[in-house]
Amino acid sequence: MTRRGIILAGGAGTRLHPLTLAVSKQLLPVYDKPMIYYPLSVLMLAGARKILIITTPEDRPAFQRLLGDGAGLGLELSYIEQFKPNGLPEAYVLGEDFLAGEPSLMVLGDNIFFGHLFAQTLQKVARQKRGATVFGYQVSDPERYGVMEFDAAGRVVGIAEKPKKPKSHIVVTGLYVFDGRASEFARTLKPSARGETEITHLIQRYLDAGELEVERMGRGLAWLDTGTHDSMVQASEFVRAIEARQGLKIGCVEEVAYRMGYIEAAELRELAAARPNSPYYRYLGDLADDPEAAAARPASA
Ligand code: G1P
Repeated sequence: MTRRGIILAGGAGTRLHPLTLAVSKQLLPVYDKPMIYYPLSVLMLAGARKILIITTPEDRPAFQRLLGDGAGLGLELSYIEQFKPNGLPEAYVLGEDFLAGEPSLMVLGDNIFFGHLFAQTLQKVARQKRGATVFGYQVSDPERYGVMEFDAAGRVVGIAEKPKKPKSHIVVTGLYVFDGRASEFARTLKPSARGETEITHLIQRYLDAGELEVERMGRGLAWLDTGTHDSMVQASEFVRAIEARQGLKIGCVEEVAYRMGYIEAAELRELAAARPNSPYYRYLGDLADDPEAAAARPASA
């Protein structure tokens, strides 16, 4: 079971200026919590407890103020700085010591996933020891992403980064599972025409070797975009609508830690008592008193 995960939260967020002039994109609000809570909860649901956050030198203190060393969530968080956005594969070069040759999951710090049975899928892919897994999702604007090309039998035969003429509407989401060779392969990649190494080239390495699995994410799963001012608002509206309807939060990292058995009800109560003015923390207090949630926790917690 992969216990290691990376969140890539670097970059300058230029498309969101001036929002991101003083604050990292991945710390901006998506309704009631900072954006990074969503990808962090994805890694936690997959069972990863050693997590590396890659950020910029300017933004690192803010991430540490928010999440610390992760002990409050039953995690081991570490931080590393990326000075310049040299491409997503650089995460595997910067994270080489952290990864220690083990398989890992990586999620982009601005990707939000939500859906039925998603946690089960994550736990399945986290058991993979060799090869790579990427997730395919249908979008209306594939030219903005890494796009999959399929043969007549429906097998993936190629992946193109932001092609002008996309070969399908199925794109690669920002969630990746790579085996222990990812750092070694990432080192060999050459920058593309836009001056960065491309994650699609790293994925292609596994595809060429016949070691790539593609998990299709169906329409019942939401993969939300936060790349533009409008899509940021839409993501907040989506989270607000679902949370209001169900009375359950999306991407609530303390809740995930509790449900996974990483922290106890007493810790939720302490958090709720320390910040009585915020409904977010009142939710955690209520969760601590919910007998159904307690009964559903893993027995070995
Ligand atoms: C990156 C990847 C792209 C992927 C996308 C998912 O693009 O390069 O292949 O489809 O993330 O969010 P970026 O959003 O960094 O332009």
